[in-house]
Amino acid sequence: MADPFRPFTVARKVRESEVITSFHLVPQDGAALWPALPGQYLTLRLPTPGGPLRTYSISSDVADGTGYRISVKREAAPGLPGGLGSCWLHDRVAEGDTVELAAPRGSFVLDEASDRPVLLLAGGVGVTPLLSMLHRLAQGQRRVFFVQACENGAVHALRDEVAALVAASGGRIVARTLYRAPTAADRAAGAHDAEGLVDAAFLQALLPLDRYQAYLCGPTPFMVAMWRVLTGLGLREDDIRYEFFGKQTSLPRLAAEGTRAALRAHVPAGAPAAIAGLAHLTNPAARGIEESVPPVAAPSDGPSVVFARSGREVAWTGSAATLLELAEAAGLDPEFSCRAGLCNTCRTGLSEGRVTYLEPPLTEPPAGTVLLCCSRPEGRVVLDL
Ligand SMILES: Cc1cc2nc3c(=O)[nH]c(=O)nc-3n(C[C@H](O)[C@H](O)[C@H](O)COP(=O)(O)OP(=O)(O)OC[C@H]3O[C@@H](n4cnc5c(N)ncnc54)[C@H](O)[C@@H]3O)c2cc1C
Ligand code: FES
Repeated sequence: MADPFRPFTVARKVRESEVITSFHLVPQDGAALWPALPGQYLTLRLPTPGGPLRTYSISSDVADGTGYRISVKREAAPGLPGGLGSCWLHDRVAEGDTVELAAPRGSFVLDEASDRPVLLLAGGVGVTPLLSMLHRLAQGQRRVFFVQACENGAVHALRDEVAALVAASGGRIVARTLYRAPTAADRAAGAHDAEGLVDAAFLQALLPLDRYQAYLCGPTPFMVAMWRVLTGLGLREDDIRYEFFGKQTSLPRLAAEGTRAALRAHVPAGAPAAIAGLAHLTNPAARGIEESVPPVAAPSDGPSVVFARSGREVAWTGSAATLLELAEAAGLDPEFSCRAGLCNTCRTGLSEGRVTYLEPPLTEPPAGTVLLCCSRPEGRVVLDL
């Protein structure tokens, strides 16, 4: 299989805030850029042993044929090893350097068939895919509400770009910024529209009554809180799309768990208070409800999945999108990370049957194995799980 990575030159490196820096990337082979949809991400291969992969959303207008831009938060906390990829990019990569990228992927994309109004809700560095969507929406006719939540002005990235799109829209795009803990300088500069957290009262005051499509990206607790607020305001679950910047998981399921359980599942063991207490940007009043495990169907004549080590056979009814989701619904706990066919963490032995991939894996798994996160069965399959 051909190497899916291409070399790109860092044409510009721009500091966007105290923690976020952008990298403008142009292909070295002179060939056209890969096509990309607003909201998709690029996969970066680090030049360290084993070539670990990291994914970064395209933060620029994907219609700009000259290059891609990614905007990266430097992940570093006192007493912990700095984030491998983000610290490498911030500290070691300079203009003129080479980085290796694979083609844009991801299903967190704008529904361009719709003409309904759009709500984009960004927490922290989660602004990146939403800004790319905002660029596309700026070229259309839909009403857009863009809400960016940050800690304060020091970490507020890309504000001028958002302001320029708003100014050019003739009132069709409305943007609001909330700082959870503005500094005296922020207050003096009037750099934010509101202080505190995004909550139901804030959104009710901002949004005229309508049927919105909402797009969320930010820290997990932010997304859990926003999911609860939006569904509480009557948005249908189908009208809320979201992307995690870590382990991909189900937001409705997290929202149905207690906030503490949700946090525990998404915070590295031993993380300091700054990470473990990721309560910033969230609604502390959000309450959990009992988690329920959805029932799984017993096998019938149709496709089915045998989990050989667990001694279970489950019908494939289409209610799960992937083998990974089916295994989870059946109460199993397979390893996963990206849930996007990139990292091979979910690779599992396949002793019988065939699968179809929803999107081709970045690198094909060895014969006799399958990536659970991006495949579904063709007929009956037997997994070593
Ligand atoms: C679809 C998608 C899109 C994304 N888009 C963006 C984007 O646009 N911008 C962006 O900035 N990020 C984005 N991310 C996140 C990005 O992919 C990386 O996960 C992020 O940069 C951290 O990677 P890293 O290599 O720097 O950190 P890692 O090395 O993976 O470490 C992660 C964190 O854990 C901490 N840590 C490391 N070791 C330990 C330990 N032993 N104990 C406790 N903590 C530890 C590190 O300090 C760091 O904060 C996206 C992720 C996804 C899945
Ligand atoms: S979880 Fe990463 S490839 Fe499946």
